[in-house]
Amino acid sequence: MQQPIRIAPSILSADFARLGAEIAAIDKAGADYIHIDVMDGHFVPNLTIGPGVVKALRPHTDKIFDVHLMIAPVDPYLEAFAEAGADIITVHVEAGAHTHRTIQEIKRLGKKAGLSLNPATPVDEIDYLIEELDLILVMSVNPGFGGQKFIPSQLDKLREIRKRIDALGKTIDLQVDGGINADTAVQAIAAGADVLVAGTATFAGGPDAYAGNIARLRGASPDGQ
Ligand code: DX5
Ligand code: ZN
Repeated sequence: MQQPIRIAPSILSADFARLGAEIAAIDKAGADYIHIDVMDGHFVPNLTIGPGVVKALRPHTDKIFDVHLMIAPVDPYLEAFAEAGADIITVHVEAGAHTHRTIQEIKRLGKKAGLSLNPATPVDEIDYLIEELDLILVMSVNPGFGGQKFIPSQLDKLREIRKRIDALGKTIDLQVDGGINADTAVQAIAAGADVLVAGTATFAGGPDAYAGNIARLRGASPDGQ
């Protein structure tokens, strides 16, 4: 069943010189999860942050740390991100040959396990893993950068995964990431998503705009009415 909509601002679009304050500001503005994009310059063509930064950010909010690992190999780093304060650890099915083992390891570390699919990856990749998952992330852009355009074909993927989650009857977050704004948010929610990742759309306009930006993504008017 589709759960209440949660908003997960991607800190990739925050001011990196003031990350602690930015996280406190989106917490106060109504973020549900803090989405942290980890990139390795190998699995994706960009480099971002490592576990040291995650650890430094942990005291700045009590919100859920939703750590999206776009790295390969991923297994050697799971423990470091778990210890740094991740609550959810999401890995890519394309990042390694032994995804089942990786998911088990995340759970052994006491964290919620997420699995992400790139835009070209078929839904069937989750067939033998879905029962193990707490979150499924549909990439609606090719991972690597913020500010890209939403790929509409991913709406079908969301609809198909929504069916599978509901048929299973387990509580699994269905997250969408990339190119989410007030318009694509409506489409993604209609297709079954219940966690929206948004970088550009959350951080546009600076701290005074964050609460309105988040409310708009939730489908409410900017003043929350
Ligand atoms: C892309 C990242 C996203 C990205 C979203 O590789 O996983 O989380 O920062 O940025 P926007 O919302 O700007 O598309
Ligand atoms: Zn992400």
